[in-house]
Amino acid sequence: MSKTIIVSNRLPLQVKTDGKDIKVTPSVGGLATGMKSVHRDSNGVWVGWSGLTDEEIDDGMQAKVDQAVQKEQCVAVNLNEDDIQNYYYGFSNRTLWPLFHYFLEYTEFEKESWESYKRVNEKFAKVVVDQIEEGDRVWVHDYQLLLLPQLIKDEKPDVPVGFFLHIPFPSYEIFRTFPKRKEILEGMLGSDLLGFHTYDYERHFLSSVKRIANKEVRFNKITHDNRIIKVDSFPMGIDYKKFEDAAKKNQDQSKKQRSEVQRRLDEHLNESDSAKMVLSIDRLDYTKGIPNRIRAFEYFLNKYPEYQEKIRLIMLAVPSRSEVPQYQKLKKETDELVGRINGQFSTVSWTPIWYFFRTMPFENLIDLYTSSDVALITPVRDGMNLVAKEYVATRTEQDGVLVLSEMTGASKELGEALQINPFNFEEIADTLKRALEMPKAEQKRRMLSLQKRISRYSVEKWAEEFMNALESSQNVSQYIQAERLTQKHQRNILKTVEDSENTIIFLGYNGTLVDYTDKTEDKTPDKALYDTLAKVSQRPNVELCITSCSENENLQKWFADTDYRLISDHGAFYRKHNIWTELEALKTDWMEDVIPVLETFVDRTPGSYLDINRFSLAWHYGDADIEMGEKRVIEINTVLTSLTSNTDLSVFHGKEVVEIKSTKVSKGYAALQVLKEKDFDNIIVIGDDWTDEYMFEDLPDHAHSIKVGIRKTNAKYFVKRVEEVRAFLNLLG
Ligand code: G6P
Repeated sequence: MSKTIIVSNRLPLQVKTDGKDIKVTPSVGGLATGMKSVHRDSNGVWVGWSGLTDEEIDDGMQAKVDQAVQKEQCVAVNLNEDDIQNYYYGFSNRTLWPLFHYFLEYTEFEKESWESYKRVNEKFAKVVVDQIEEGDRVWVHDYQLLLLPQLIKDEKPDVPVGFFLHIPFPSYEIFRTFPKRKEILEGMLGSDLLGFHTYDYERHFLSSVKRIANKEVRFNKITHDNRIIKVDSFPMGIDYKKFEDAAKKNQDQSKKQRSEVQRRLDEHLNESDSAKMVLSIDRLDYTKGIPNRIRAFEYFLNKYPEYQEKIRLIMLAVPSRSEVPQYQKLKKETDELVGRINGQFSTVSWTPIWYFFRTMPFENLIDLYTSSDVALITPVRDGMNLVAKEYVATRTEQDGVLVLSEMTGASKELGEALQINPFNFEEIADTLKRALEMPKAEQKRRMLSLQKRISRYSVEKWAEEFMNALESSQNVSQYIQAERLTQKHQRNILKTVEDSENTIIFLGYNGTLVDYTDKTEDKTPDKALYDTLAKVSQRPNVELCITSCSENENLQKWFADTDYRLISDHGAFYRKHNIWTELEALKTDWMEDVIPVLETFVDRTPGSYLDINRFSLAWHYGDADIEMGEKRVIEINTVLTSLTSNTDLSVFHGKEVVEIKSTKVSKGYAALQVLKEKDFDNIIVIGDDWTDEYMFEDLPDHAHSIKVGIRKTNAKYFVKRVEEVRAFLNLLG
């Protein structure tokens, strides 16, 4: 049975040593808590780090760790102390985390930790690849494993790989500052589907892919390495029912069953009718805006003194990444702020802030959620923020108000929350007041809408949608409308060759017969190619015609010893029995008018240039800012359409190029002239780029047309690589 392999830095369980024994606790953080229910209900495995380093595990302990991990359908990746220092605390949390959350001033870049990050991603890849069986799919999570998708793809090209980023993807202007930006993008592009929480993160990512990795992006699809990669947003949900049920259970508890925490909360709430509780829960992280929140609360107490002795802020800060200096600094700052405010405002019977710096069992979290009148969630940046959703899910009476930072991914979905800018104290204070004074009817109206939305798009639904999208991303034919050339198709085409009296095979050259990665230079044919072509042409009823954009001198040099037909210069020249002819008497006087126009575009678009060929002009913008280039293409089209009307010129938009030439110069037009010479009853045509599209389009419908590469095409079939073309030709030979 095929399975899903979930991969994340942390497993949903955290193993710690306890003397000679081990202690297992649930992991904290959005990812592990969110994915837990998805994993629980599937037959998959979860690959990740157990929480213990190699150095901490002594001989007797390994078996216990394995057992604990296996029990939860997990597989551990073993990390050592150095990995944790450099990959986890270092590159993941001192480089990527601050960078992706717009904390440029905290972003450090150390070569050593980058090397460690690469090594650990390779460790993960090894464990994952070992787990893969026929039919499996892999779902990689988060910023600690950005290189992993490509590492898996290298080993298992046919296994579907999905990736989800749980934190923001920053704007291109931030991402571009990062030394390893290209490597990171290329690692991510090993995926078949890339998911983000919001459309903004998705569009930031696509902008970097276009501008830094220089890949072709159309809407939300990237063409890379002859694959179509889909990018989409999937706002992560929560296990709604778990929180709702727990809240109901909490309400039904008798006084005696109540927890110590609940009893203390009740005491406060029962002090008077006007007693209020405001809740804040986060990992202690500088992205969560904790000091701002405390200062805003102080500001509130000063501005609205009538709330003193009535309101209490319950602040749960869960310890996190405590070896990173910024987290230590934040801890100190938070302690001091809480101390100062409590010192300043407390009375004998009242402390304004109840501050807990620890993890809390699930039941106590529910106590907090269900007892709070307001949830005050004010991160300065947050990929999603599931706490906001959890609070909503526990409000079974549809009361309570959510105050939410507009810098969270969740704010995009939770429109009925009271949204604030976390940098604006006054706004936070005033909004808190508005929340505390909101009439019950309005609370209910807002809460109902919020609940309706997030109960529908639960974490299960989120995972299901992601997996469905991953499944459909495998079907490239739905994007390019050509069929993959299978063995069966190849045998059928071979049969038509055997049955035919005269077959002609038109073959593109660069990118079809030889790899064409270095586009500055034509590539000389290699021995294997000569042999393959010779074998095919030796079939008595088969003729070859090589069609290229290269100049006739090149083709002549390469194929002097053969009698193949050759078409060169985009279709302007033709060789038969070693005699070259010009297919069209071509006028080029139109160039005089068009060149100055295109030159104005070169001047206004840094990085673009004009290529003046014998019969055509090409404006290339591959090195220009890609978005500006695309804008210019629209302008050029408008200008040229009016210039070229009533002429036989055509304007073609290829990959990062706009080309203008006579409609009579094309490989399609040239191929049709060849067909006039003889009664060919069978045609095969193979090509890779837009100049070959003219052949696919112009040749008769019965031609077997094959495109090399995954891009929009008029061909009937596609293959991914030059090697496949060669293998097919060997079959024909
Ligand atoms: C965020 C990240 C997760 C991470 C979690 C806890 O939710 O997106 O990838 O696991 O924080 O952080 P930690 O560093 O303790 O794993």
